[in-house]
Amino acid sequence: MSSVQPCTVGDDDDRRPPLDEILAVARRGLALKPKRLPSWLFYDERGSALFEEICEQPEYYLTRCEIALMNEHAGSIADSLGSEVRLVEYGSGSGVKTRILLRHLHQPVSYVPVEISPEPLRRSVQQLAEEFPGLPLQPLCADFSKPFRLPIPPRAPRRTVVYFPGSTIGNFEAHDSVELLRKMRNEMGDAGGILIGVDLKKEPALIEAAYNDAAGVTAKFTLNMLARLNREIGSDFELAAFAHRAHYNPMAGRIETHLVSRCEQQVKIGRNKVGFRPGEAIQVEYSCKYSLAEFAALAEKAGLAVLRVWTDPQRMFSVQYLERATALAH
Ligand code: AVJ
Repeated sequence: MSSVQPCTVGDDDDRRPPLDEILAVARRGLALKPKRLPSWLFYDERGSALFEEICEQPEYYLTRCEIALMNEHAGSIADSLGSEVRLVEYGSGSGVKTRILLRHLHQPVSYVPVEISPEPLRRSVQQLAEEFPGLPLQPLCADFSKPFRLPIPPRAPRRTVVYFPGSTIGNFEAHDSVELLRKMRNEMGDAGGILIGVDLKKEPALIEAAYNDAAGVTAKFTLNMLARLNREIGSDFELAAFAHRAHYNPMAGRIETHLVSRCEQQVKIGRNKVGFRPGEAIQVEYSCKYSLAEFAALAEKAGLAVLRVWTDPQRMFSVQYLERATALAH
């Protein structure tokens, strides 16, 4: 409900999750067996900056491959989307891929970034306004996993395309990712489409390295979740007493990231204490990897069909174009 209202861009803190909500989320997650905290908790200001830094690490191939792919295929992608598209992006990121795409779109009607934190939203709009002075920008401050209403476009688009780059879909477990695709399917309407970045299955050592960079940026990013909780809800996690661990689970086809307690310890969460055994882990993130066939099956469950797939030359990463599946008579 609260996500329906667009907020004033530049207004810094009215969209930050309220502290009692974060406290409740932390309490609940740490009471689970095994313990578990949601990955959206990574992305406070420091966490978002660390994620940008991850993207520059040599081991983190995802961003590099996706940008290379967009540079190579943006023309063909724009042709598949057709003219007069309204582009709705879920999350606004750093905007590099978006800018490549917008440069190639034919007479786009508007660009609608949907982003929960106002500051990144403001920054991305400001940058885009400079490069695309003629393009109507309609930022929407909202949680894209919850229902929201799109702003009224300046003229009727031929097609609404939901853009979801970065393999963020990989953070959702199977059931939730189908739900999210269904939600996009509803928002884009009958004539709509989805342009989505999907990280592909490959040699597990390469995947694991991407989440265990030698410079230790990913470890800092993971540990920042505890630092954030300390800052915001006054918990007393000792950062040196926890370790980042990211392993590829080949059966599940995903990176599973944990924060592992290095010793027996107690942590204060609100008025209560939470106990940790030595080696006890908090599960903080999944990053699912797909084969093309697996992702097509996922899309189908959401009533969607994959019309086109673009990959980088080494087939590390894919960008896929989906539309509503038409019921086939048989
Ligand atoms: C932004 C969700 C795509 O899962 O690869 C990077 C986040 N976590 N390194 C990913 C992340 C650790 C990233 N996504």
